[in-house]
Amino acid sequence: MLVSFAKGYHALCSALGRCLRSATYSRVADGVEGGAPTVTKRRAGYASALIALGNIALRLLGTGTRILSQREWEERETHLYGVLYGEEARATPGELELPKLPGVPLAELLRDPAVSRTHRERALRLSARALRRLHDLGYTHADAMASNVLVDMSRDEARWFDFETVHSTNESPVARRADDVRALLYTCAAAADGQELSRVVDVVLEAYGHEETGCAVARRARRLFPRPLAFHLGQAGLSFGRLRQLSAALSETQRLPT
Ligand SMILES: Nc1ncnc2c1ncn2[C@@H]1O[C@H](COP(=O)(O)OP(=O)(O)O)[C@@H](O)[C@H]1O
Ligand SMILES: [Mg+2]
Repeated sequence: MLVSFAKGYHALCSALGRCLRSATYSRVADGVEGGAPTVTKRRAGYASALIALGNIALRLLGTGTRILSQREWEERETHLYGVLYGEEARATPGELELPKLPGVPLAELLRDPAVSRTHRERALRLSARALRRLHDLGYTHADAMASNVLVDMSRDEARWFDFETVHSTNESPVARRADDVRALLYTCAAAADGQELSRVVDVVLEAYGHEETGCAVARRARRLFPRPLAFHLGQAGLSFGRLRQLSAALSETQRLPT
């Protein structure tokens, strides 16, 4: 009975999640500045209205996240490119000019059947370690999807980008970190469709290497009716069965009682 309700709730949240994800408000284009490749990101004219509505939805869903206003976004993005990569991101009226970072988005790597299992796992490890580094510097990402980290296999490096969202300061540090690890795991599970879930969970949590955060992720994933489920499914379109498998794999890795 409870499981039937949970399946219904999942179906509803899936539909709402797809609506949330379809609301795009910015565009990215490649460019060149002073001989160096750049990426220019510009928000559409209607972006601020859509973001205001989006933030109401994020609050109602209890996601603990918020999309930044243009000015806040410019400040955060320029600050983080400097701190993390020693690179200058420039804000010009209405758009952000970012240095083009090397690599391929993790989500793309995981979806590519030509990429070997060894390479996939290395990419997962590099991304999880880079997330831990970001956290250790005192930041969290707040939209830590596998599409928002670029993996450069030739240099054994991963770099997070797309810093348009922040965690609410009401959330505890562990909750914020756990939400990032959750987003990474859910989106990896969605991208690495055929891959064994327990292996994805093991590799990511081991590379991230913070027991308390891993436990927090596992405990949250066990809930059948999490309030932010629509947001989570908007990030990663996981079926009910796959989500339960992921929860079981997390409980096993963190040795939570079943
Ligand atoms: N600094 C960057 N270096 C290289 N590629 C980037 C950079 N910023 C964005 N991109 C590319 O543009 C795509 C969309 O950028 P993103 O900031 O994630 O926008 P969105 O808010 O639409 O998710 C990314 O998947 C990535 O391929
Ligand atoms: Mg993105």
